Amino acid sequence: MSKKYITKAVFPAAGLGTRFLPATKASPKEMLPIVDIPQIEYAVEEALGCDIEDFIIITGKNKRAIEDHFDFALELEETLSNKGKQKLIEQVNRFSEHNFAYIRQGRPLGLGHAVLCARPFVQDEPFAVLLSDDIIDPDDTLLKVMVSHYAEKQSPVLALMEVPPQDVDKYGIVRAEAVADDLFRITDLVEKPSPEEAPSNLAIIGRYILTSDIFEHLQHLNPGAGGEIQLTDGIKSLLSKRPVFGCLFRGKRYDAGDKLGFLKATTELALKNPVLKDSFRKYLIELTGRL
Ligand code: G1P
Repeated sequence: MSKKYITKAVFPAAGLGTRFLPATKASPKEMLPIVDIPQIEYAVEEALGCDIEDFIIITGKNKRAIEDHFDFALELEETLSNKGKQKLIEQVNRFSEHNFAYIRQGRPLGLGHAVLCARPFVQDEPFAVLLSDDIIDPDDTLLKVMVSHYAEKQSPVLALMEVPPQDVDKYGIVRAEAVADDLFRITDLVEKPSPEEAPSNLAIIGRYILTSDIFEHLQHLNPGAGGEIQLTDGIKSLLSKRPVFGCLFRGKRYDAGDKLGFLKATTELALKNPVLKDSFRKYLIELTGRL
């Protein structure tokens, strides 16, 4: 039997979702659906596909709906059962047998701080971090590829994508040397640099495999870009102690934290939905004819 390397995944979900107000005034942005699946479920599904067993969600105010979503829904189950909707019951309960842990990030001090909050659950194991507003096409295998690089290198692996120069200030940007096809050794990182400061156009997208020594580095960080404790700065500090790799992703990723990205994800994933795809495609063709 092959050795399992990564069994834990952390999902930072404490953000306020201000870009989607008023929709996110009382509901978590992570629960905004792309077609009929909440954003965070796409990320959990991706982790499940890599045999991850423990799901650690970093929450905050107004995030109870996430806990309910991954739990049993007994009343709903009864109602669906009375209507003979067995398949739907299986669908709504499919995550309920898995291990979910919830940690409150009391104050929104940044992504690095959110990851640090997971320390008591992660302890000294390697772990994945998935940002649920980065949606990776469910047919892509990015996280699996990252896990296999981790298995070989026994070092942190970050997902990278090339971005246009005018977009570098939205991301953590790395300086890196190619070591194999689509695999880089990272030599520097900067969170949200200006186009002039950016060391390249290779951006970190929201998938990370980290080792537990990151916590020591996060613990001693000062606030960085935006006055927040940045995960990028923690990884930069880790570079003095161990190699960190980047895995270039050439597949489809949607920035669902942005309204246009959210609409693109909804449109493209609806075009892959077995029930909707034909009628939706027909509608889009008619619509574009009218535009
Ligand atoms: C975060 C990270 C950034 C990364 C980005 C990917 O930024 O801090 O390094 O490039 O996610 O989506 P945020 O989008 O939360 O501002």
